[in-house]
Amino acid sequence: MSEKTILDYETVALDDANSALVIIDQTKLPGSTEIISLKTGEEIWDAIYLLKVRGAPAIGVAAAFGIYLLAKQIKANDYETFYQEFVKQKEYLNSARPTAVNLSWALNRMDGLCQSMSGETIPAILEALKKEAIAIKEEDIQVCKAIGEYGLSLVKPGDGILTHCNAGQLATCKYGTATAPIYLGHERGYNFRVFADETRPLLQGARLTAYELHSAGVDVTLICDNMSATVMKNGWVNAVFVGCDRVAANGDTANKIGTSVVATVAKRYNVPVYICAPTSTIDMNTPTGSDITIEQRPAHEVTEMWYEERMAPEGVKVFNPAFDVTDHDLIAGIVTEYGVARAPYTESLKEIFEKKNS
Ligand code: MRU
Repeated sequence: MSEKTILDYETVALDDANSALVIIDQTKLPGSTEIISLKTGEEIWDAIYLLKVRGAPAIGVAAAFGIYLLAKQIKANDYETFYQEFVKQKEYLNSARPTAVNLSWALNRMDGLCQSMSGETIPAILEALKKEAIAIKEEDIQVCKAIGEYGLSLVKPGDGILTHCNAGQLATCKYGTATAPIYLGHERGYNFRVFADETRPLLQGARLTAYELHSAGVDVTLICDNMSATVMKNGWVNAVFVGCDRVAANGDTANKIGTSVVATVAKRYNVPVYICAPTSTIDMNTPTGSDITIEQRPAHEVTEMWYEERMAPEGVKVFNPAFDVTDHDLIAGIVTEYGVARAPYTESLKEIFEKKNS
């Protein structure tokens, strides 16, 4: 029997019998695989804020299971009291991270269901909420697979692919978004050569992407963030695949800090940049990238975290935005589960949703 790898664990799961959200604590990877059970609103909020569970789709699934579990704890005999508390808990979870739209997308989907059942009993509402959360998780797996197929059509065997941060299985429920074409290609003998940016300051590329791709037997080379120009100039990269946290209606996309640097360099070396985006990450209510709220994170992530001792002078000013916006003109295509949207994105993204709704 082959050895269990990180890909054999579920990123996010529901343990309904114990009323718990079960996740891999990603802050401990790759050193140790710790599976943790979260029961209270504070535990779930902290896990999202501290990036124990992270990556836009995984955050959405965790929030869906989370709000179901918190709804189960509500003590109410009538719908009004129940719903009032539900909204309070929903808003609390929604405040954990502002940029990834999947968080509010999943919570609003659960809320919509709750409102549509105002005439039903509370046990019936809870049962429906559970089913909806499970459906959100199952859909994520199908969506990532479809993104993988469309993404794979954009590259050829032997290609070099660069990725930034972790838009892998650990950021979703299976396959990942940016890694889905890599995993599907790997299964089909494409022999990709993948470059994973380490992704300062939280090292999602080194700790998570390099780890999961290496565990799967993919040819992956870890590089520091400031090395992407070198590998592209050397002609080693045929395409960039990255994930995203929110796509605006004009095609501007927020993703992990440093993505826009990669995209700018890629433009210089004529390497196409593909943003892998489930439609749950596309926010047609946000007109442009400048309307996206960018999460600011604490200074210690830059000055101390991961180091044995502090690596910056005490008291120095630190700027630590967790995401940046890649302008739509730097993007060759947005790969969704309904196909690849191309410029002009104001039109093509609308068409993607027309396809979804038809
Ligand atoms: O801060 P993180 O680790 O949650 O940031 C994750 C990313 O930026 C991912 O690229 C994005 O969420 C897409 S995950 C499929």
